[in-house]
Amino acid sequence: MRRFWIDTDTASDDAVAILMALRWPDVQVEGISVVAGNVHVEMGAKNARYTVELSGKKTPVYLGAARPLVRESVWGYFFHGDDGMGNMNYPEPKLPLAKGRAVDALIQAVRASPGKLTLITIGPLTNIALALKTASDIVEKIPMCYIMGGAAATLGNVTPAAEFNIYVDPEAAKIVFHSGLPILMVGWEHCRGAANLVEEEISHVRSLKTPYADFAIDCNAHAIATNQNWLGEPCLALPDPVTMAIALDPSICTKRGKHYVDVEVTSELTRGMTVVDQLGVTKQDANIEVCWAIDAVRWKEMLYKTLQ
Ligand code: BDR
Ligand code: CA
Repeated sequence: MRRFWIDTDTASDDAVAILMALRWPDVQVEGISVVAGNVHVEMGAKNARYTVELSGKKTPVYLGAARPLVRESVWGYFFHGDDGMGNMNYPEPKLPLAKGRAVDALIQAVRASPGKLTLITIGPLTNIALALKTASDIVEKIPMCYIMGGAAATLGNVTPAAEFNIYVDPEAAKIVFHSGLPILMVGWEHCRGAANLVEEEISHVRSLKTPYADFAIDCNAHAIATNQNWLGEPCLALPDPVTMAIALDPSICTKRGKHYVDVEVTSELTRGMTVVDQLGVTKQDANIEVCWAIDAVRWKEMLYKTLQ
């Protein structure tokens, strides 16, 4: 079994990503650390616990950072709904919160299994930055980190320059990007357009008639409506599940390149921008692998497989 750790600000698309990993045959999710982002951290933890319970697993869910390292919080309720889950108001899960702090649990899990735990981050990078500051030795012990975040092609969804996860806590992202962790950055530009589920594909998911399929669409009801009103796209965008699909099967990323990538933390105009040195003009060593293209057809097939 491959072993995953998921760091998430659990709202609607995070929940689908978590479900994909929990239902993937050769993957065991060892732990889920929750961070403030889309929603307050307690709400995110409730949403994550609900998702774990739906899957029938008992994966521990840990409470993590309640706010960014130095900035005021920025939330995503406008996109995901007041409960982060399409205003479905799911009941309180029976699965309790795991004991201990997310950052400590992550450090402990990595140290207990050096080289074994793949990290997937689908929220702001606060927890990961805190873990790296507390225990820099974990850098050598994490074989791969898949990050949903950034915009290599400079197509932001919070500002023209920045994607939400990096915008919320750019200082944390900067720490993580320069930590030496082996990272594949999956930018927001791969998580819209051809990657979106159009109406027929949403109907196809419904036609699977499983609790997982209904959950995936129901909890994204608010996101679908907002996508339509905001971007004029009558579709379901699933950034975190796209990234999870790549973590589950790295060949879904069909083109990648290693570059020097830095995060803007000074300017307000470009706060959280992921600046990719494609031509090597900075003469800095490449620190991040950037995903440049995905196989949108196969990512959707993977999604359908996990919802059956
Ligand atoms: C990212 O921001 C959040 O709204 C989503 O959960 C995803 O992680 C997309 O920019
Ligand atoms: Ca997320």
